[in-house]
Amino acid sequence: MSSTPPRTATHAVPPTGGNSAAPHDPDPDREAGPVLVEVAQATAVLGGRTIWAGVDAAVAAGEFVAILGPNGVGKSTLLKAILGLTPLAAGTVRLLGRPPGQANHQVGYLPQRRSFDASLRVRGVDVVRLGLDGDRWGLPIPGRRSRAATARVRELVELVGAAGYAHRPIGQLSGGEQQRLLIAQALARAPRLLLLDEPLDSLDLPNQAAVAALISRIARAEEVAVVIVAHDVNPILTYLDRVIYLGPGGAVSGTPAQVITSATLTTLYGTPIEVLSTSDGRLVVVGQPEAPALHTDRHGTRP
Ligand SMILES: Nc1ncnc2c1ncn2[C@@H]1O[C@H](COP(=O)(O)OP(=O)(O)O)[C@@H](O)[C@H]1O
Ligand SMILES: [Mg+2]
Repeated sequence: MSSTPPRTATHAVPPTGGNSAAPHDPDPDREAGPVLVEVAQATAVLGGRTIWAGVDAAVAAGEFVAILGPNGVGKSTLLKAILGLTPLAAGTVRLLGRPPGQANHQVGYLPQRRSFDASLRVRGVDVVRLGLDGDRWGLPIPGRRSRAATARVRELVELVGAAGYAHRPIGQLSGGEQQRLLIAQALARAPRLLLLDEPLDSLDLPNQAAVAALISRIARAEEVAVVIVAHDVNPILTYLDRVIYLGPGGAVSGTPAQVITSATLTTLYGTPIEVLSTSDGRLVVVGQPEAPALHTDRHGTRP
């Protein structure tokens, strides 16, 4: 891919009824649930470099929140900070009312994509069960507990629509099939919060839409809040309550309509950024300061 300016990133938005360029806005009368995640004036430093600083963010029960921003801005680091896997240099994180690291058993975490080797013989159901058993995986669990675990794995496999292939080796499944099974794994212990790091990455566009719809449906059915890191906001935008947009200085948080605007992103990045509406009602962010080499066509199906 040639990388000549203007650089573009496709953060697009589906139609919202009229011809308005405003992104989907959630129902303002919807009651926000209790706060699950509270990040206050947080700063992350890795390898002596400040990744982000002064970040404020909150996630309430029942919410579907996206963390957006260019590659390398620190989206994965923010999820790890919420989990206490990356300590903060300043500021605070509270997860389910406790310091980070103390409530992780109530969180389903899907780390950023690691691909399965095609020769891996572990089956889909084994991967799901790993989420249930955690460190006990591989050791036989006797009797009733084992039967309960098997039933729960079957339930999870059905929840994500993976019954048709869950007994096959995971390395032989498609990216979308693997991702559904990993989501089932993250849901295994009935978490109150799902942290999903680019779960749509590497999927083709139809699968991105399908997996996004699945996540949204499950979030409602299981009453679990979702924080999803996304490179492209398009496939999830209709489901989003809120967006946390990370920039070099910090973060802007609000409804998609508040955050994905020329004015807000220009301020966040300190460089002119334009949010355009395409004829099919999607929004495109132009001039986002993302290294062109990093913004290759990762899904292979973009126009
Ligand atoms: N352990 C680490 N030590 C030093 N730098 C790191 C470490 N982990 C990540 N980084 C750097 O921190 C920045 C943010 O990384 P990351 O959170 O993965 O970004 P994103 O998920 O937005 O792509 C990147 O520049 C990355 O290279
Ligand atoms: Mg990342």
